[in-house]
Amino acid sequence: MNNRELEETWEYHNSTKHPGMPPHYLDWDNQPIPFKIYTTLDPIEIPKDISSMGTPALTGISECIAYTEAECIPDLKTIGRLLFFSAGITKRVKYPGGEIDFRAAACTGALYHIDLYLVTGDIDGLEAGVYHFGPHDFSLRRLRQGDFRGVLVNATTGETSVARAPVTIISTSTFWRNSWKYQSRAYRHTFWDNGTILANLLAVSSAHRIPARIVLGFKDSVVNHLLGLDTSREAAVSLVALGYTKTPVDSRPEEVEEIKYETMPLSRKEIDYPAIRAMHLASSLKDEDEVRGWRSATIESEIPEPQGRLFHLEITEDKDVNLISDSLERTILKRGSTRQFARVPITFRELSNVLYRATRGVPADFLSPYGSTLNDIYLIVNEVEGIPKGAYFYHRNTNAIELLKEGDFRKEAGHLGLGKRIPADAGVDVFFLADLNKVLEKFGNRGYRAVQLEAGIIGGKLYLDAYAQGLGASGLTFYDDDVTRFFSPHAEGKSCMFLVALGKSVKKRTR
Ligand SMILES: Cc1cc2nc3c(=O)[nH]c(=O)nc-3n(C[C@H](O)[C@H](O)[C@H](O)COP(=O)(O)O)c2cc1C
Repeated sequence: MNNRELEETWEYHNSTKHPGMPPHYLDWDNQPIPFKIYTTLDPIEIPKDISSMGTPALTGISECIAYTEAECIPDLKTIGRLLFFSAGITKRVKYPGGEIDFRAAACTGALYHIDLYLVTGDIDGLEAGVYHFGPHDFSLRRLRQGDFRGVLVNATTGETSVARAPVTIISTSTFWRNSWKYQSRAYRHTFWDNGTILANLLAVSSAHRIPARIVLGFKDSVVNHLLGLDTSREAAVSLVALGYTKTPVDSRPEEVEEIKYETMPLSRKEIDYPAIRAMHLASSLKDEDEVRGWRSATIESEIPEPQGRLFHLEITEDKDVNLISDSLERTILKRGSTRQFARVPITFRELSNVLYRATRGVPADFLSPYGSTLNDIYLIVNEVEGIPKGAYFYHRNTNAIELLKEGDFRKEAGHLGLGKRIPADAGVDVFFLADLNKVLEKFGNRGYRAVQLEAGIIGGKLYLDAYAQGLGASGLTFYDDDVTRFFSPHAEGKSCMFLVALGKSVKKRTR
């Protein structure tokens, strides 16, 4: 299988569209646990500091910290904050028959199939090593002792941000923990749900003035081997290089000892979804040439000239953001997914701030220069004070939205979001659409991971932007081709990647 054999992506994408997924019932007796629990490794306590530093959420979300020559090495306490506010347990909700631990970032079905690992040099409070983060007891478990950052330098064929990073966070997905409910479509969720975590991680890193860069160009087998993963079930999906050291780490040969630790069974039995494994394999980078090919590919966003009426965003200036935005930490702590939207309008300024702050760029190796994107943003405005109801396209380059067609599309929005009330009741529905042909041609199958991840990251930023301003939000799934049809002819040839509904919640928290 080769990253350039694109039929595999099309086969996966087309066979996991709604409608079309095979009927499925939930086997509650076989529901997987939402944690990876190592049964033989001792926990290493992480200091827990969840106080607010005062950075407005809208600032943290929108700022990218530039790399300078200044050394930036986070200590364990700071790493603990990054982990907590990205993937920590923020709420425990009891219901008849059990309880659910909800986490800092939204996740399809609250199934929490993404795990975080650290590959670190010596930092204040933690010896060099490879660690797994366990949200269930807010602890690390050491998988390897010593400095293995050079293996990541090798895996990424010398990616500078990784060679300079005192700490790299690796996200993995254990597919069964999500496919239990969503079958093969869970592979898309891998990147959406990793994306929402990374949106938080980037925002908190930015509040701590830590430069961060997302890296998807790595030899999969090397990273998976370093973490000791059973790759038929769990795989690394993204790296985030954090901080900056004056002396770069040298590349180190990939031959590291095999590690294998016992973990708690997830459920009675696990069901294999071959389409997930096939798509993951097809989008894996096998050798240096493929990683270099990935790194040298770039994509320029082509934003079509507007043809319709334009509405320029009313953006709150940086100096006034603290007047309208809650702090980043409080925003993450209160974030949830709105279960019911009130049919009342939001203001155009609120919408403007949400769109503008979420699209200031994602520091990632597949986006160059910062500010380019793989996804385009389309909107259904159900009710926003000051602008007509209708379908819109967001021109990021000029900070304006273009009216594509005017009208009340609540019914259509409800249908597109799988016939649910949430998108029909919301003030605005934000759709991410991408020209998959173009993305795959540039990046190969790996581009599929990138385009889904980018949608998840910007979607995660939308969530935070909304809650920062006292609004609600919910990620949603959708009828793929009907979304394209609805926004066509403008969206002709594009594929829907993700959908987020925004508006006023009926209650602040409904669970
Ligand atoms: C990518 C994504 C897709 C989602 N899709 C739906 C959906 O189709 N319907 C829904 O009611 N909630 C959806 N959600 C919300 C999740 O159910 C919710 O995040 C999860 O239950 C955790 O709860 P919390 O977000 O309140 O912390 C989605 C969330 C994400 C991140």
